[in-house]
Amino acid sequence: MRHLLNILDLTTEEINELITTALDIEENPEKYSESCKGKILATLFFEPSTRTRLSFETAMLSLGGSVAGVSSASSSSASKGESVSDTVEVVSGYVNIIAMRHPKEGAPYVAKRHSLVPIVNAGDGGHYHPTQTLADLMTIYKKKGTFENLTIGLCGDLKYGRTVHSLIEAMSRYKGVKFCLISPEELSLPDFVKKEYIKDKGIVYEEVSSLEEAISSLDVLYMTRIQKERFLDEAEYERLKDSYVLNEDKMKSAKSDMIVLHPLPRVNEISVKVDEDDRACYFLQTRCGKLMRMALILKLLKEKNEPERADTRKMFVDPDKICKNPHCIVTSEQEIERSVYKDKNCITHCAYCDSVI
Ligand code: NCD
Repeated sequence: MRHLLNILDLTTEEINELITTALDIEENPEKYSESCKGKILATLFFEPSTRTRLSFETAMLSLGGSVAGVSSASSSSASKGESVSDTVEVVSGYVNIIAMRHPKEGAPYVAKRHSLVPIVNAGDGGHYHPTQTLADLMTIYKKKGTFENLTIGLCGDLKYGRTVHSLIEAMSRYKGVKFCLISPEELSLPDFVKKEYIKDKGIVYEEVSSLEEAISSLDVLYMTRIQKERFLDEAEYERLKDSYVLNEDKMKSAKSDMIVLHPLPRVNEISVKVDEDDRACYFLQTRCGKLMRMALILKLLKEKNEPERADTRKMFVDPDKICKNPHCIVTSEQEIERSVYKDKNCITHCAYCDSVI
């Protein structure tokens, strides 16, 4: 069965098809208004969300389907200690597709093994957020008309920013893309993304700590929130929280056709004054999010019986390899299979959260 756990579960052609469908939905919404009649989407959100959950739910409603869901861990049996696997075993018997957000990295991989229906990862801890990437890609396509030869600046919390990880993995497949990684050293991009999707692919990139210095070279500036909820040390968050603020003054040094994206919510990373600038595209991005989620729901329900895209990682089970990432699903799910894989350099990674073991 097809699922969307990681943006790499979709081929480049499939991403193009989703954008084409989303553009058609935007033009002709009535054509799709009964496409999912009789189908139910479950939104299992064990972490806060406004845009992602509501855009999934309104996407299904606009397709003529229905929705059911939980909007916090505290309102579900997760608060009683129920596992992801048991929750999904049950819920997947009630609905046709599940969108799941979970604070633990790799939780959707557990869900997929226990599900009778397609699973969509709506954000797993600080790991991945592939449907936000679909929104980002549609926005880039609308404003730039291409994904090639773009210099993309990613600014803020590149360590815990799951949207950044998925966007880099998606953009790393296009010709001529360059990355400018703008963060304090403490919040720099993790190796599971930097090594495999930038360095090993020979993509041109630089790592800087100053937004002012980088901004003039960028075609796309992707701002992010410092992910307070992922910090184990609150003092560290307090120290880093105001690292970057994009304001009108900094925008003066940017190209006239640079676009500013942000997955939102913003705290103070972008001054509200920037909203009036034509280059600010983060609200457009939220609208693209709903359209791309509509296109995705249609695709996954249609292709429900097609085989999953083969995972290029060669997984195996090694009970002696214990993942030490405190944010990994293996720390909370009982009797979980210790799946691992080796990368090109023969380094062993946890198959759930990708950390080096
Ligand atoms: C992001 C997320 O949840 O990862 N928001 C979103 O889904 N639109 C970004 C964030 O919370 O900072």
